[in-house]
Amino acid sequence: MTAPLFSVRRLGHANLFVSDYMRAKDFYVNVVGFEEAYRQPDNRASFISNGNTYHDFGLTDVTSKYAPPNQAPGLNHFAFEMENEVELVAGYQRALSSGFKFKATLDHDCARALYSSDPDGNEVEIYADVVRDWRAIKTGIIIKEKPKWVPGVTIEPEAESLYPGDFEYRRVPDAVFHAKRTTHVALVADDYEAMFDFYLRVPGLHVATGGRQADITLFRGNIGIGDFTLIRQQNGMKPGLHHVGIETFSEAELRQSLKSAGEAGIAIERIVDHPSRYAVTIKDPDGIQLQFYANRDWPLDSLSGVDAADRPYLL
Ligand SMILES: [Fe+2]
Repeated sequence: MTAPLFSVRRLGHANLFVSDYMRAKDFYVNVVGFEEAYRQPDNRASFISNGNTYHDFGLTDVTSKYAPPNQAPGLNHFAFEMENEVELVAGYQRALSSGFKFKATLDHDCARALYSSDPDGNEVEIYADVVRDWRAIKTGIIIKEKPKWVPGVTIEPEAESLYPGDFEYRRVPDAVFHAKRTTHVALVADDYEAMFDFYLRVPGLHVATGGRQADITLFRGNIGIGDFTLIRQQNGMKPGLHHVGIETFSEAELRQSLKSAGEAGIAIERIVDHPSRYAVTIKDPDGIQLQFYANRDWPLDSLSGVDAADRPYLL
């Protein structure tokens, strides 16, 4: 295998297309348990985080100026974090010289980001934080044009590692669930082998469990605990987003949230109770699956003994 183009640390965020971004914002605050960090009314998008990154989710309205015509709710893109901008730009230049194509390059003020498509057409972002205190920039209502950015050219790349370091997680005390951070995205692959090769070669993920011949693979970044799950399409599963994984603060609290969800009339899609992890999956107002979990004996080294139907909901 040729050397990877990038060497990502971990998943940073998922950006979803939603049918009503303010309704989605209310759900992700009051049910999922993330604070709204900032909002872009001109883009019709809300960004939520408890501190792990400058947004754990972007909630982009299907009528946003960034949405294609007739966009349905679902995955917009998901993003992997790099060590710093110097490494991001080096990967960008390696990619260009190998003939790899990007869809866009964007400067978000606190981070700079590259966008490309995987073999199934899912949009993948690779970015680096360029400001230590993102809350100093990303707060409240933001209406601002993005500066023009040519990687490595228009501005000297930042060599320092500026992802969030020491901070205290915030909480939404009255929420049904208590999200700590978004940690992974799970996709059903149309072309499993091509997708497997892409995620090794482009972001430079590592296989945590599974493989090219397997029905499911869990990948991780350099510091991640499981950042990306690839599921071989079977049994009528639709290719594309399967779920976004959200770590909770503790299993005891997750079990309490499950009770509160019942009282609030929130449907539970699936519970997987496994020695490695306790996982509860629900749907957001647009039917997008969200997996809340608390790890036990993690990482798991084998999927033997896990029911095949449960596997996508465990990883
Ligand atoms: Fe993004």
